[in-house]
Amino acid sequence: MRVLVTGGTGTLGRALVPLLVEAGHDTTVMSRRPGPGDAVADLVTGDGLAAAVAGADTVVHLASSPYRRTMAEVEIGGTGRLLAAAAGAGVGHLIYVSIVAVA
Ligand SMILES: NC(=O)c1ccc[n+]([C@@H]2O[C@H](COP(=O)([O-])OP(=O)(O)OC[C@H]3O[C@@H](n4cnc5c(N)ncnc54)[C@H](OP(=O)(O)O)[C@@H]3O)[C@@H](O)[C@H]2O)c1
Repeated sequence: MRVLVTGGTGTLGRALVPLLVEAGHDTTVMSRRPGPGDAVADLVTGDGLAAAVAGADTVVHLASSPYRRTMAEVEIGGTGRLLAAAAGAGVGHLIYVSIVAVA
């Protein structure tokens, strides 16, 4: 399965990505910064999102901002932009990790 992991550079992503690869999934990390094999995209501006989700069977959405200044733009606006891009690309599954007691 082709899997795109947003926030794959973060705490949870760094733990999950090797497990996906080990399980045989064609796994791409999405980050705002270029890295080997990574998809470069920004959830706030939307830059790169369409290209990042293209061809993915599943998106695991782990990108997150704990900072009050950017939280709404990443968590709400960014997740909305990601959902729209994923729907436009025909992505079949999107897994969103929530957190205990989130409103
Ligand atoms: N860690 C935990 O113990 C824990 C527990 C329960 C739930 N969760 C949930 O799991 C998810 C991931 O948590 P985490 O601790 O792994 O977060 P994290 O370490 O803060 O990583 C979040 C990642 O989001 C990416 N990101 C931030 N702003 C972005 C933007 N504008 N566009 C694209 N990517 C952006 C960053 O990647 P780049 O800097 O490379 O762009 C960063 O690596 C969150 O939803 C969190 O609530 C985490």
